[in-house]
Amino acid sequence: MIRVWSDGQNAGVLDRHGARGSTFIYNRGIEEGRAVSMTMPVRLASWDQSIGIHPIFEMNLPEGALRERLRLDFSKALGTFDNLDLLSIVGRSQIGRLRYTSGDATLDEEVPFQSVDEILAARRDGELFSFMLHKFAQYSGISGVQPKVMIRDVGDAATLQNFSLGASQSIKGATHIVKFWNKGEYDQLAANEFFCLRAAEKCGLDVPRYRLSDNGAALVVDRFDLRPDGSYCGMEDFCVLNGYQTEYKYRGSYETALFKRVGEFLPDAIKAQELKKLFTLFLLNCAVRNGDAHLKNFALIYDDVNGPARMAPVYDVVTTTVYLPRDVLALQLDGSTRLPSRKQLLSLALQRCKLSEAQARPLFEMVADAMSDAAAEMRVYAKQHPEFVQIASMMLDQWELGLKHT
Ligand SMILES: Nc1ncnc2c1ncn2[C@@H]1O[C@H](COP(=O)(O)OP(=O)(O)OP(=O)(O)O)[C@@H](O)[C@H]1O
Ligand SMILES: [Mg+2]
Repeated sequence: MIRVWSDGQNAGVLDRHGARGSTFIYNRGIEEGRAVSMTMPVRLASWDQSIGIHPIFEMNLPEGALRERLRLDFSKALGTFDNLDLLSIVGRSQIGRLRYTSGDATLDEEVPFQSVDEILAARRDGELFSFMLHKFAQYSGISGVQPKVMIRDVGDAATLQNFSLGASQSIKGATHIVKFWNKGEYDQLAANEFFCLRAAEKCGLDVPRYRLSDNGAALVVDRFDLRPDGSYCGMEDFCVLNGYQTEYKYRGSYETALFKRVGEFLPDAIKAQELKKLFTLFLLNCAVRNGDAHLKNFALIYDDVNGPARMAPVYDVVTTTVYLPRDVLALQLDGSTRLPSRKQLLSLALQRCKLSEAQARPLFEMVADAMSDAAAEMRVYAKQHPEFVQIASMMLDQWELGLKHT
């Protein structure tokens, strides 16, 4: 049995149920603000899931190398290793406002310190990653296939933007996400993502602070769900908002699973502005040729589960076609996963984002300008980092192709 906490307070219990499923029950008489998801309001009846665990509880379960590390470290002691076991291991340190502990334990989130500056200046990339994976895996309640960990910066006020020294010292949970990459598989992925985020930032989109280590081995991203007082806001990705478990992250169409869903969960007052941002991000994803913009790579965040939500800042934008030349869209658009034409994108803007043609057209130019600025920076960086030259030149080709097409 696992105890579920929302905003640091006891919300209910999650347990195995039936042959392969689970059930979640809210504590008697708790307030509506303890709801674990916008999709699972407080109620007397249990919330049952016939297979696996509910999408909101599965949202931050590690995938890829991080999951494998945890399996190797814990499966012997546990005797089993399913999603519920994994949740009990990484449950104390999670993205967003939910935490998990074993049955009667109390909640204490205390992630070990690690200097971000040290990561940024590190020389021996491979060793640093295995050291960090070993130390931080069990504090990394975070999804995604790429190797990564969550760390707590030493509290150096200079590295924690927006936090006074007093506040940064009271933060007990993780403050940053550190993303690595595998040689020979996704070479220079951190620099690739860095320049895609650069383009997003130049489009005027909200982007958390992101830094590339000197040797290009790691991308360090500030958590955007961390609040100045050290608490965390709610976050739900579009798998959760569609009621899908992680395995369905490539299911459905952008029209319904993303744009229509956004309209359903956002308050009227900000819908138009958020849809415009989302459309811009979508354009950028197409133009940089990101074939991995699946449902877990978009999310909503909020301060109150029953209050207004807003789009989460941009994350995980990558030119995937440098690794997978035939890569296509992660979800369907207009019935196909082919890269959409300008005409198809315009019709998306008009029909799903409620933009007029006069509003939509300048967004194409803005994205093109942002990418051309980011491309210029990429060229300068590549000159100083010969190890990035090959990927940079492939990225520039892909961006040119993407821009031409869209
Ligand atoms: N800056 C951030 N602040 C808070 N949460 C974040 C941030 N960046 C990413 N996340 C969360 O962490 C998850 C994993 O991050 P990310 O998507 O960058 O990893 P990835 O391994 O590249 O993913 P994928 O499997 O899609 O390739 C995201 O789905 C999101 O829930
Ligand atoms: Mg991702």
